[in-house]
Amino acid sequence: MSGPNTNYDPVQVTPLDADHVEAMVADALEAIGSVTTTAELKTVRIAHTGDRSPLALAYREIGALPPHARKDAGQRLGQARARLNQAVAERQEVLAAAELEARLVEETVDVTLPVELAPRGAVHPITAMMDMMSDVFLALGWEVAEGPELEAEWLNFDALNTGPDHPARGLTDTLFVEPTENHTLMRTQTSPVQARALLSRDLPLYVVCPGKVYRADEYDATHLPVFHQLEGLVVDKGISMAHLKGSLDHLARALFGDDVETRLRPHFFPFTEPSAEIDLLCFVCHGTSVGDPDHPCRTCRSEGWIEWGGCGVVNPRVLAAAGIDTDVYSGFAFGMGIDRTVMFRNAATDLRDFVEGDVRFSRSLKGGAR
Ligand code: DAH
Repeated sequence: MSGPNTNYDPVQVTPLDADHVEAMVADALEAIGSVTTTAELKTVRIAHTGDRSPLALAYREIGALPPHARKDAGQRLGQARARLNQAVAERQEVLAAAELEARLVEETVDVTLPVELAPRGAVHPITAMMDMMSDVFLALGWEVAEGPELEAEWLNFDALNTGPDHPARGLTDTLFVEPTENHTLMRTQTSPVQARALLSRDLPLYVVCPGKVYRADEYDATHLPVFHQLEGLVVDKGISMAHLKGSLDHLARALFGDDVETRLRPHFFPFTEPSAEIDLLCFVCHGTSVGDPDHPCRTCRSEGWIEWGGCGVVNPRVLAAAGIDTDVYSGFAFGMGIDRTVMFRNAATDLRDFVEGDVRFSRSLKGGAR
């Protein structure tokens, strides 16, 4: 900044000269008019009105003028600054509006465009059935128990009164796991969970156990080497076969509807006495194929009934093996195939469909998708 100078004519101070100020303004207005973005405008605004702009420098010269000349120069610069500020503001408005418009266009989402949804898959029908069957019993206040699939031979057989000579122990049925001296196997039934529940839980006992079981079976339309069972076990005071029948009928009605028909057919299981198999009236011929050779039924082989599972009153020897007083307590147990239950409920005919992983099969079954 120059020092005070009272002698010279203010028009001689170039930065404050009217033409010079006018040229400065014209220069700035041109720059403001030529920018195309708000970012550029900011640079131009700083260059022409900021602290280091020619305008700011001119302001500094005012102090060097004689007092009588200051007013004029100050007004000239003030007007110049006002014009520039206004030009910047107008340009800012125009550019900001254009930029907003451009962004809106760029970010437009056409909500009517078809989207490609990733396939969601479906709950496997067996999983859905396991849940459905367990829920029936949970609603009655029972608990769900679990056990390992790699099981001790003792729990899978001995604890269930299946002595060493029982045919079920032969290598043909059971997948023993090496080294054989460890006496471990892939459980052939969910019944060992009965033994586990008896040993670990307090009485009275009301449990179901859904799970995988393993047998050295062929893989075909009616057999899988890995399949699923639902085990049930009740131990309480005064339990009889009637409670068993009532519970199984309740399950059958919950799954198949009120008009389902069941029957208990005497059978043998080492861990129940008396034992029975529970059959369902054939869901295809409803028993009409019996004694009618002209209309045979492939589903029940014209027997009218289809085997669903095994059951019985718990053999007191099983209870005693778990240290339970058989004078006070008695129980019932049952075990049925979950895979077969899905087949009955949905009239599926080939068990292999359950394991071949085609989601269309899962989707096609009632209760398969949630
Ligand atoms: N575990 C038997 C099987 O795999 C089914 C069974 C029969 C389970 C009678 C039971 C029962 O709990 O009491 O064939």
